[in-house]
Amino acid sequence: MNDLRNIVILTGAGISAESGLATFRGPDGLWEGHRVEDVCTPEALARDAGLVHRFYDERRAKLAEVAPNAAHEALAALDAAWPGDLLIVTQNVDDLHERAGARRLIHMHGELKSALCAACGKAIGWVDPLPPASLCDGCGKPRLRPDIVFFGEMPYEMEAIDAAIRDADLFVSIGTSGAVYPAAGFVQTARHVGARTLELNLDPSAGSFYFDETRLGPASELVPAMVRELLV
Ligand code: OAD
Repeated sequence: MNDLRNIVILTGAGISAESGLATFRGPDGLWEGHRVEDVCTPEALARDAGLVHRFYDERRAKLAEVAPNAAHEALAALDAAWPGDLLIVTQNVDDLHERAGARRLIHMHGELKSALCAACGKAIGWVDPLPPASLCDGCGKPRLRPDIVFFGEMPYEMEAIDAAIRDADLFVSIGTSGAVYPAAGFVQTARHVGARTLELNLDPSAGSFYFDETRLGPASELVPAMVRELLV
């Protein structure tokens, strides 16, 4: 892989599974009997804000019990050492990439440790539970909600992500089921611009056939091995 300069890496829940965070569509993927698609919507927030806030409060609290694993650490080492352009685009709302030390990182689906004012759009760092109707310290309105991109909302920084993929020589997808667009379509853009495409996942994903190569196994083994190959 020594002819590569620009790399885009997409990560999903599978990269954090070995840290102890449940994936969305695995056997432990239901929460109080709800599918993620039933909790993470603007309609659910309007119908039952208490339920939606509790879902994310539990996930935010769980962050204190987990730590980055070898896959997060390997990507942070690659970020620090890679001389070309590199962008880690995570669908994850946990903070394990940044706790491992990754810097060139976009949280396209938002962050648990942030609250978003639905009135003025201000994002505020948040570590505690977030009761519905909490006050925004910018506009003063009682409209703070989890800073999570719900189904039906536009993910963050799509222009920057698209530009990075269009410049990429290598696109890597790690630990994602390929069930949620637009992230699931990034591989097609990467192929279109001639980038090499590599998937690292425990099971084949919905879009495996789009990738030049799929390697199956746990992220904690596959990701450090890939980083070793890239940094020789
Ligand atoms: P999913 O739960 O849909 O998929 C997780 C993927 O990780 C599966 O393909 C598993 O095979 C794989 N996996 C599990 N353990 C692994 C391991 N140890 N090593 C490598 N791979 C492993 O999660 P996502 O694809 O991230 O959106 O889900 C995408 C989006 O759906 C999430 O960002 C979330 C959810 O709704 C929002 O919250 C907006």
